[in-house]
Amino acid sequence: MYKDWESLKKDCSACRRCALADTRTNLVFGVGNEQAEVMFIGEGPGYNEDMQGEPFVGRGGQLLDKYLEHINLDRHKNIYIANMVKCRPPENRDPSEEEQDCCIEWLREQTRLIRPKIMVCLGRISAKRLISKDFKVTVQHGQFIEKGGILFMGTFHPAALLRNPNNKPAALEDFLALQEKIKEVCKHTYEI
Ligand code: URA
Repeated sequence: MYKDWESLKKDCSACRRCALADTRTNLVFGVGNEQAEVMFIGEGPGYNEDMQGEPFVGRGGQLLDKYLEHINLDRHKNIYIANMVKCRPPENRDPSEEEQDCCIEWLREQTRLIRPKIMVCLGRISAKRLISKDFKVTVQHGQFIEKGGILFMGTFHPAALLRNPNNKPAALEDFLALQEKIKEVCKHTYEI
């Protein structure tokens, strides 16, 4: 168990627990406020994230930033964003169960240090792993579920919204529900 970010980042950046380490350009650790009350968890880095070392910096990321801005959240100010796996799966395929198993301890350590009140799963990969195995985004999006003292909510992955814009209004509803939940359970998110 890590007590400080320095050593966690140092060890994580040297990680070679799975074969994704062989093909990465940059490990994508996470971005945001290390005291955030709200964490967002995606799937894994894509091409742009691998090049830049930051999560959600491609077209999907720009869409995510818009939704965040709509409810006064900012990746550099009052939230933290990370992924299920920290290295890019080749050809942007889904990270395998084994790759997620290798990587999840880094996310657990990040979560232990941050101690968020709310975790938002972006897409089915993180929702299935962190909320429930049979999670269906189209059915259960926007619902808050308490687990181990943290409120979890799953919503659409930004890349899925780019592919299927019909779900954008539903995603906006989820973000508005998130805003209400933040006002209810978070102390400083909107004061930072
Ligand atoms: N998709 C993800 O799930 N995470 C990223 O960081 C980028 C794209």
